[in-house]
Amino acid sequence: MQDPAQDERAVLARELAYHEELYGGFAQTHFARPAVRALRRHMVRRLLTVSGAGPGSRVLSLGCGIGDTELLLAPHVGSVTGIDLSPSAIRQARADASAAGIRNAEFIEGAFEHLDGAFDFAFGVFFLHHLPDASLDAFPERIASLLAPGGVFYSLDPSRWRLAGALGRLIVPGLMRRYQTPDERELDPWTTAARFEAAGFASRVAFYDFFSSQFAGLLPGFESGYRMARAADEVLCRIPLLSRLGGNFEVIARLSAAPPEQNCSTPRVS
Ligand SMILES: C[S@@+](CC[C@H](N)C(=O)[O-])C[C@H]1O[C@@H](n2cnc3c(N)ncnc32)[C@H](O)[C@@H]1O
Repeated sequence: MQDPAQDERAVLARELAYHEELYGGFAQTHFARPAVRALRRHMVRRLLTVSGAGPGSRVLSLGCGIGDTELLLAPHVGSVTGIDLSPSAIRQARADASAAGIRNAEFIEGAFEHLDGAFDFAFGVFFLHHLPDASLDAFPERIASLLAPGGVFYSLDPSRWRLAGALGRLIVPGLMRRYQTPDERELDPWTTAARFEAAGFASRVAFYDFFSSQFAGLLPGFESGYRMARAADEVLCRIPLLSRLGGNFEVIARLSAAPPEQNCSTPRVS
């Protein structure tokens, strides 16, 4: 039988190898293109809206990559801490922060499992679906231990029911595989949210897009095209049953504002 700890180490090693290559130059060029920058700006507005984060908020980004979203977010919040496995990504994030004169963002190299701290808002953009099953199961309790009372967690991940995925696998299967690590997989939105409920969060699912984020990835120079796709997604994501076929789903999970009562029968999550 496979040892889960060994399995987890193997996944981390594969994640690291894949992302070191991605952040060796391609990501930097690609993420600087106009449609991708417009997508990142949209994500930042969304993060601020769902979290209510503001000038005093301490924000954590898990799997921050090269920090392009985090550096757009930093001027709106108190501080941003980004953590990522990839040394190349963290080097780039630090260099970009310094070049932009952003002083309230720090970037840590390593696995989030070893992080300490207390944050008001934590998020993972395209992060949870990279975690092995055992880490994903343990994740909500781990993140609860890093959040202050009333803290919010937000995730954005591809849905296993997404229409774009079904069409992509049919029409361009090679292209789909090219942009995926060996271990990532689409997630079920409601099972993911239920994991947070079980750990004491109040959580909800929403759908972020149908095609616009993929559009930015495939045609990164075509910003006005991205804007039109985004406008269409705003409508599609609001149609009750259809929205369930959306591409990327969000879990928005909030901890209770009251700290858990401490007594002999309620052990503290650490
Ligand atoms: C698909 S990328 C997303 C990066 C970034 N959030 C973005 O939107 O471009 C997933 C990131 O998670 C990082 N990662 C995966 N497992 C991790 C872990 N256990 N701890 C920290 N980072 C991890 C990878 O190195 C990678 O940069």
